Amino acid sequence: MLSEKMQAAINEQIKNELYSSYLYLAMSAHCAAEGLPGTAVWLRMQAQEELEHALKFFDYVNERGGRVELHAIDKPAVHFESPRAIFEEVLAHEQKVTALINNLYEVALAEKDYPSQIMLQWFINEQVEEEASVNEILDLLKLMGDKGHALAMLDRQLGQREAD
Ligand code: FEO
Repeated sequence: MLSEKMQAAINEQIKNELYSSYLYLAMSAHCAAEGLPGTAVWLRMQAQEELEHALKFFDYVNERGGRVELHAIDKPAVHFESPRAIFEEVLAHEQKVTALINNLYEVALAEKDYPSQIMLQWFINEQVEEEASVNEILDLLKLMGDKGHALAMLDRQLGQREAD
């Protein structure tokens, strides 16, 4: 059985993951409207991954005999400044999520909740991967610039993302 504290913290994280999904979907919509179909595909796939993260926590709470409580999700922005600004925001957001996952792990340690510690290790690894892949894209954007031909090439490349 999950402790009240652990359950509340995971329910909060379900909302955080759903917000990540919402944010990336908003960015995807912006890119689709701005003639960046490949970037839109990449962000939409990222949104899908975040939904899966939320469901992983959702299933875990149920599996442990807990009670899922869904919280309200904030409205993301509609417009974003530039492709580079988008990926800078994605990176900053992922760094925030990493801190949230680490906090969850702290709760699991304090509660002596060993199954939650093991479950959270998957997310700790996932955050390392997510930050690395966004950093890679940002490095390219910085190197090549986020305009004209270079942007068109990068957009095509991002559109080739395959599901994990
Ligand atoms: Fe669910 Fe991008 O972390």
